[in-house]
Amino acid sequence: MPPADTSWIDADRLSGVGLRADLDGAVLTVTLDRPQRRNSQTPGQWHALGDLGAALPDDVRVVVVRGEGATFSAGIDTRLLGPDGIPGEDSVHDLMRGDDDHVLETIDAYQRGFTWLADPRFVSVAQVRGHAIGAGFQLALACDLRVVADDALFCMKEPALGLVPDLAGTKPLVELVGYSRALEICATARFVGADEARALGIATAVVPADDLEATTGDLVEALLSSNAGAVRETKALLQSAGSLGLDDQRLRERQAQLRRFRALTARD
Ligand code: ACO
Repeated sequence: MPPADTSWIDADRLSGVGLRADLDGAVLTVTLDRPQRRNSQTPGQWHALGDLGAALPDDVRVVVVRGEGATFSAGIDTRLLGPDGIPGEDSVHDLMRGDDDHVLETIDAYQRGFTWLADPRFVSVAQVRGHAIGAGFQLALACDLRVVADDALFCMKEPALGLVPDLAGTKPLVELVGYSRALEICATARFVGADEARALGIATAVVPADDLEATTGDLVEALLSSNAGAVRETKALLQSAGSLGLDDQRLRERQAQLRRFRALTARD
């Protein structure tokens, strides 16, 4: 088999912002790779992630998001919230020099670094060890599934810092745990441990940290064992199920099944 085309992965750009992307067959693994800063995140990473998502070819079926080392992500690099910032990165103080439209457009671009993970073309899986704080929690929430080590600690820290969760995390959190629990978790900025995360539906599975890689691998294998087109159509259907009325959703089911019937019988 010829080697997979990885020309769409800009490895230099990714490593320059502390990210890695490794393609293995139909599985892309994205690694937050700044363990010395507990995989804290920057706007440069969010832009690079959004562009990676936009460049993703159709044959990628699963995207795994993980952190290097024992922490998934400690959230935004907190230097960006202070007056000194980080050279080469937009800090909050830099942003405030622009007008409101510029700020809103900039945050929209940041959010693209998270929302690409909802693309129905693939299933996204967060593999979470240790802390997932603020932007780290939101990155895990941006994924469809979360395989979680028993040492995981989720925290929506933003309100404790005078901020709101603005990296597209509020909607999936409410969809997973309901409005009231989501408000309690955010407004208190408390830590949610692995067992509670499982009970609340945040964690798809909780396993000992040593088993995390293997359990994620088993899940990825199971996802790949189903029909690719059917998984894509099903993800899109489940995404619209909560917001559409029954008749509109039934229509979408019929249309999707028609495409499946056509695809399956075209092979005969
Ligand atoms: N931004 C920048 N640097 C960080 C961050 C961060 N978010 N988190 C950790 N680091 C750095 C520390 O400054 C330290 O650097 P140093 O070795 O140069 O001193 C190094 O990573 C290790 O940090 P420790 O605190 O020693 O690591 P520990 O494993 O004990 O604790 C923890 C990890 C719990 C994640 C802790 O570092 C922490 O609370 N970090 C801040 C979390 C935070 O408030 N994030 C912002 C959330 S809001 C949002 O994301 C929008």
